[in-house]
Amino acid sequence: EKGGWPSFMKKEVSEQPEAVAKTILGRLHDGSVVIPELEAFGDTALQGIRRITVVACGTAAYAGLVAKYAIEKWARVPVEIELSHEFRYREPVLDDTTLVISISQSGETMDTLMAVKYARANGAKAISICNTQGSTIPRESDAVIYTHAGPEVAVASTKAFVAQITALYLFGLHLARVRGTLSAAELAVEAEQLQAVPDKIAEVLEQAEKVEQLARWMADTRSVLFLGRHVGFPIALEGALKLKELAYIHAEGFAAGELKHGPIALIEPGQPVFVVVPSPRGSAELHSKVVSNIQEIRARGARVIAIAEVGDAAVLPFADEVLRIPLAAPLYEPLLAVVPLQIFAMELATAKGLDVDQPRNLAKSVTVE
Ligand code: F6R
Repeated sequence: EKGGWPSFMKKEVSEQPEAVAKTILGRLHDGSVVIPELEAFGDTALQGIRRITVVACGTAAYAGLVAKYAIEKWARVPVEIELSHEFRYREPVLDDTTLVISISQSGETMDTLMAVKYARANGAKAISICNTQGSTIPRESDAVIYTHAGPEVAVASTKAFVAQITALYLFGLHLARVRGTLSAAELAVEAEQLQAVPDKIAEVLEQAEKVEQLARWMADTRSVLFLGRHVGFPIALEGALKLKELAYIHAEGFAAGELKHGPIALIEPGQPVFVVVPSPRGSAELHSKVVSNIQEIRARGARVIAIAEVGDAAVLPFADEVLRIPLAAPLYEPLLAVVPLQIFAMELATAKGLDVDQPRNLAKSVTVE
């Protein structure tokens, strides 16, 4: 039921604080992470892992890309992200020290299911991150960590995405505890940061009006580019995907560092570019590199829309628009920065008179290959 909302998507975007909070519920205790669902899996198995391969498609794969930064940092295990359909048709190297983590909102995506089956048949252990109780992928896995985003009806994934990142972060902290790579004090700091996310997403949602207005002004736009770096890179990819699927606009996301390796040739006067700006407090170096990228594209006439933390004044001289997100440690920024991009795509599609819940040619769950 839409419960008074104009679309399921708008309702689901607004439910993101709860999606994160409910996914955390019962898994954080006194600053430490315990995922009861992993008990059956065993700490010894987690201690023996040498490598993690994430298999997923679309938005779920971008959640995996975000989590790679956190899991590698916290648990010191290499993490690679594979699109499920690419993974299963080459001969991936697998053994019992490889942990395969599948991510799927529906739990029914055929390519992801087949990737999980392939991985287990070839000796790997498989954990799934899933939003749908009783679906097929969890049944075919050794363990499941459910996201508790609630049913996601709109075809475009929003609250499931933030819940997937949350579940993967909880997994990363659990793994770091079991492997002893983070101290109790460090774990407590991360736990506190994660618990602060729902209220911060709510703050971002309060500023929706500014994004909505921008989307209405830009309703005739034919192409939009998205740039990000570090954890902002997968958010740039996600922003572009949302715009393609909802508003049928050509959109591309790039790693900001790739700009001079090709994409900067696309910049011509008036080209809108969203830039996800990392916090200067998190890394002054990354921040200044992204600010230089903004200057470079601005000098070529780009129309820059920066997503930057509150108080970051360095972007002001070069950005045409600045969308603000609350202060957060760098690894938690993606959970905030994605929200204006979701709203932008949704409102631009609405301004074009399109059905945001049911975009053309797409199905909510892709059960064919
Ligand atoms: C994009 C979107 C898709 C899904 C993808 C995977 O908004 O919804 O890209 O993320 O089809 O679906 P699940 O998570 O059900 O496996």
